Amino acid sequence: MTTTMTAPAPQLPTTAPAPAVRPEAPAGPPKLGRDALRRAQQETLDSPRMKYSVLAKMMFLPVDLVYGRKGSYTKFAMLEIIARVPYQAWERTGYWALHRHHGRSALALRVFDRIVEARADQDNEQWHLLIMQDLVQRNGVRQGRLLHGALPWLIAFFYYHVSWVLFLVRPERSYRLNAEFEDHAEHEYMSFVAEHPELESEDDPGTYAAEYGRYASVADLLRQIGHDERTHKLDSLAHVRAPRFHQVP
Ligand SMILES: [Fe+2]
Ligand SMILES: [Fe+2]
Repeated sequence: MTTTMTAPAPQLPTTAPAPAVRPEAPAGPPKLGRDALRRAQQETLDSPRMKYSVLAKMMFLPVDLVYGRKGSYTKFAMLEIIARVPYQAWERTGYWALHRHHGRSALALRVFDRIVEARADQDNEQWHLLIMQDLVQRNGVRQGRLLHGALPWLIAFFYYHVSWVLFLVRPERSYRLNAEFEDHAEHEYMSFVAEHPELESEDDPGTYAAEYGRYASVADLLRQIGHDERTHKLDSLAHVRAPRFHQVP
């Protein structure tokens, strides 16, 4: 008589391992329908601009002097080059904070949340810039190296360093400065659409439709960008009121 030895069944865990918690990439500003875009534009036109600080005016003044006080695609392209800068500064400073405070996992997750958000906002601003450059080219506007290359770079250089220094010393001031910049951009786009009714009948070229969406007209495309700027502004203002990310709750 032979006996068969059977291997004991492996012990299966009674509970599934907890999924890893990872900050999810934010969806970005909401895409609005036609009526909502018009309402958003009217809300902006009916609301006063924020009170801009000296630092914000130091950036707006040279842009107005060189590109004119009124909106234009070249001026918007210039503003979009600068718009990405604080998000880049916050992302880089966030990585520095992660390195400096390594070992504090709760803090690391909060800092990483901010890094993910800053990257998403940079991407959104990047689409704005590409759309503006596309509109500049389609409208046959010539861009010189000095005014459309060197000057944006100089202002962006200034803004970048102001942003990260403020972020280290007084983060709420850095967010407030960005909110002012976004408020300015929101009003510039919405006012430009109001001043150019011909844009209502101009088709959205849809060059970046797959990535940014396609709109009924160039007017709606610009309204959507203006609403994105409002969302960026409100996000920054929320951070102004929030506790500093490096404070342990
Ligand atoms: Fe933008
Ligand atoms: Fe923005």
